[in-house]
Amino acid sequence: MTAFQNLPDHDPLPLTLRRRFSRFLERHMPERLYARTLIIMITPMVLLQSVIAFVFMERHWDKVTKHLSRAVTRDISMLIELHEKYSPPMTDEIITRMARDKLALTVSFLPGMQLPPPQPKPFFSLLDRRLSREMVRNVKLPFWIDTVGRSNFVDIRVQLKDSIIRVIARRKRAYAKNSHIFILWMLGTSLVLLTIAVIFLRNQIRPILQLAEAAEGFGKGREAPADFRPRGALEVQRAAIAFLQMRERIESQIEQRTAMLAGVSHDLRTILTRLNLQLALLGDEPEMQDMRDDIAEMQHMLEDYLAFARGEGDEKAARTNIGGLLEQIRAEAATSGQKVTLTLGSTLETTVKRNALKRCIANLVNNAARFAENVHVSAMRHDDWLEITVEDDGPGIPEEMREQVFRPFFRLDVARNQNTSGTGLGLSIARDIARNHGGDITLGESSLGGLKASLRIPV
Ligand SMILES: Nc1ncnc2c1ncn2[C@@H]1O[C@H](COP(=O)(O)OP(=O)(O)OP(=O)(O)O)[C@@H](O)[C@H]1O
Ligand SMILES: [Mg+2]
Repeated sequence: MTAFQNLPDHDPLPLTLRRRFSRFLERHMPERLYARTLIIMITPMVLLQSVIAFVFMERHWDKVTKHLSRAVTRDISMLIELHEKYSPPMTDEIITRMARDKLALTVSFLPGMQLPPPQPKPFFSLLDRRLSREMVRNVKLPFWIDTVGRSNFVDIRVQLKDSIIRVIARRKRAYAKNSHIFILWMLGTSLVLLTIAVIFLRNQIRPILQLAEAAEGFGKGREAPADFRPRGALEVQRAAIAFLQMRERIESQIEQRTAMLAGVSHDLRTILTRLNLQLALLGDEPEMQDMRDDIAEMQHMLEDYLAFARGEGDEKAARTNIGGLLEQIRAEAATSGQKVTLTLGSTLETTVKRNALKRCIANLVNNAARFAENVHVSAMRHDDWLEITVEDDGPGIPEEMREQVFRPFFRLDVARNQNTSGTGLGLSIARDIARNHGGDITLGESSLGGLKASLRIPV
């Protein structure tokens, strides 16, 4: 038991090897599921076929070549016997003619000659090997063969007592060559099978892509495609069903939260209005002023809440030209006396909830305009993102506060300057909206000297 438990400590190599292997695979495998699956399918097929082809071919060629070589060498041995034992009346001319007519061999006798020095053996020649073996077995005399020289023929010479017999046979007679048909068949059927597999595979991968698109869209606060429903293999369907249920739960939760917020705000507003009325009835004494201010602030807060809750509730995302939206915000700021300059990049179209995003950007612009003289807004497209920045030349926010100001009701002004109005909800609402679009807001330092708020949303 202890030995087993200690095993990983003593034997870390397989683990690191395995990790390295999986890292290697990660790095070198194609990224897409489609390509990966194809590789997973093709590799074993190619391997299997290669092995089968190799084994089959080797054996098939070997066997056929053996039979053909044997036939040729037996013919030769018969010719030699005719020459040696029955020479008169069987003259060399008769033997040569018979060999040509009946055996399709070109034979010549070269009296008084010696065998040429042995040829260097071709390295990987089945024919040479087989033919030599059969020569040894059937002819049993010193011989010399050349299977390389003249491509369509094989040259065989045998040392006889007084001469040399030289036989030239067609290579086809000794060697099986037509097996490429087999390979063609194999490749052809593999291609057909592969095409079918690719078609099936596409159909299997489509539901996964659709699920990914639906989930992505949901993350960016967009509508799911109307025809989205669980499809494909059981596992993919399960994932799709789980996604749909999750989306439903999140949506109903948000709905519930918003409805509750709206309800509470609404009820409180009624009470506040009543309080205000009662205060007005009580007269105009100066000590009432503080109470009135407090009530006004509470009302302002509730308006913010209500506006937020209403806007988020049922607005649908739609293609929107962000340039036009920013222009509108600039114009509205101008009517209330704020000076905002604008720089717009190209292709600023994306799918957003227009009113919500407008509130988000307007919150940033209002903040900037409240603290600074000059406000500069710019919008740029970076690959799959839109970046909208709002910069000002005001006091900025110290770095350690840049996350805290996003908390609801958090206001720096309390420490800095009591007189500004505000509830401290602006930035938290803005960030909420940005995140609902799959983006975010970050704060930094502007080259103008004040705060730089960057809003990023996916295209
Ligand atoms: N451009 C800015 N320059 C300096 N300080 C800022 C800037 N924008 C925001 N702040 C600080 O961050 C705090 C939080 O801002 P937020 O917009 O959340 O609240 P608010 O503006 O005070 O109230 P509301 O927006 O709800 O009316 C502000 O109180 C302010 O002190
Ligand atoms: Mg604000």
